[in-house]
Amino acid sequence: MPGPTPSLPELLSQHRPGHGLPQAFYTSDEVFAQDMETIFYRDWLFALPACALEKPGSFQRLRIGAYDVVVLRDNQGGIRAFHNSCRHRGSVICTAASGKVAKLTCPYHQWTYGLDGKLVWARDMGEDFDSTQHSLKTVHCREVAGLVYICLAKDAPNFDAFAGTVTPYLGVHDLGNAKIAFQSTIVENGNWKLVWENNRECYHCAGNHPDLCRTYPEDPSITGVSPDGTFPEKVETHFNRLEAAGAPSRFRMGEDGQFRVARMPLLDGAESYTVSGKIAVQKRLGQVPFLDAGTLLMFHYPTTWNHFLTDHSITFRVTPIGPMQTEVQTTWLVNKDAVEGVDYDLKNLTTVWEHTNDEDRRVVEHNQQGICSPAYQPGPYSTKHEDGVIQFVNWYLQRLRSRQPQLAVAAE
Ligand code: FES
Ligand SMILES: [Fe+2]
Repeated sequence: MPGPTPSLPELLSQHRPGHGLPQAFYTSDEVFAQDMETIFYRDWLFALPACALEKPGSFQRLRIGAYDVVVLRDNQGGIRAFHNSCRHRGSVICTAASGKVAKLTCPYHQWTYGLDGKLVWARDMGEDFDSTQHSLKTVHCREVAGLVYICLAKDAPNFDAFAGTVTPYLGVHDLGNAKIAFQSTIVENGNWKLVWENNRECYHCAGNHPDLCRTYPEDPSITGVSPDGTFPEKVETHFNRLEAAGAPSRFRMGEDGQFRVARMPLLDGAESYTVSGKIAVQKRLGQVPFLDAGTLLMFHYPTTWNHFLTDHSITFRVTPIGPMQTEVQTTWLVNKDAVEGVDYDLKNLTTVWEHTNDEDRRVVEHNQQGICSPAYQPGPYSTKHEDGVIQFVNWYLQRLRSRQPQLAVAAE
């Protein structure tokens, strides 16, 4: 029988740099709880594309660990987020996953809140009742170039460096004029860090992603994070060509490694993620100057990676459910005026990433199953192909240590 889970300081001291994490990081309830407390309850999280909230009163409900959050569009067209817990006796207010309402009415005793979160009606609460003291509790919420992020922390970390860096890159993709063509939500039976580790390398691509490999290069200089800051001449030429034509492209990374943005070339002749390699949507989303402009890759730990293409964009959202379960939601965005069946064929648009997601789910689940064995021993990452994984793991460990001072001491 396996013994008790080692403490977090013990686990950290067991980690060998350049190697996978010890088993409990991927399996234990205690580490999962720490990940939620230390990272997901404190960092900025991708919520949804702004176009998912079409009109005032459109809302979506999100579950992040113990939290239940409502993100909505208010009467002024802004986007706000609130805790989905009534200020009377705590009932959830929005019970549906999404919808459209004029006001937020609690199903229990019908306390009613405006779209700004203010309590506007509560029956028979007496003369002394002060409704201004019972507004919905707010969740930090920011829209960045058509993408909505939330933060559950009381004091949110600085988000300006990310927003300032990526906004010009996203500008040419015009996400304000997007609509959702398709959304898929899958559950992977694997720890959220395994989902990320898998995402951060293409060492596995040739053996697992026949459709994706028709257009996406497995070249680590494209997938990875360029630890030495240099790129092959071909990639430099690509950056220069796109930047000269007004599409910011050059590789940028956040100071602490939390985000990366870069417009990377696809394989020669490829335009988009389709089986043919040609664009999927004739009425394009955005004004990227060339059809062979590649894909704007953007990740922001711990919840999102994205592909912004010449003709459409794809967002991905990662939500941990438990130590060995993670939800991955994928959203295909197209020009709001593009008509299905006329400007695009939905199957042609979604096939490559539907297949790729399912293939990734399978490898993540196999990875989790093998790690659960008592015989599992963390092995070395390939420095050629898996520098992105090493970068992710280092970011994760640094987060734990910097936010839990006792771990920083234990690590020395
Ligand atoms: S719990 Fe919401 S009105 Fe009573
Ligand atoms: Fe993959």
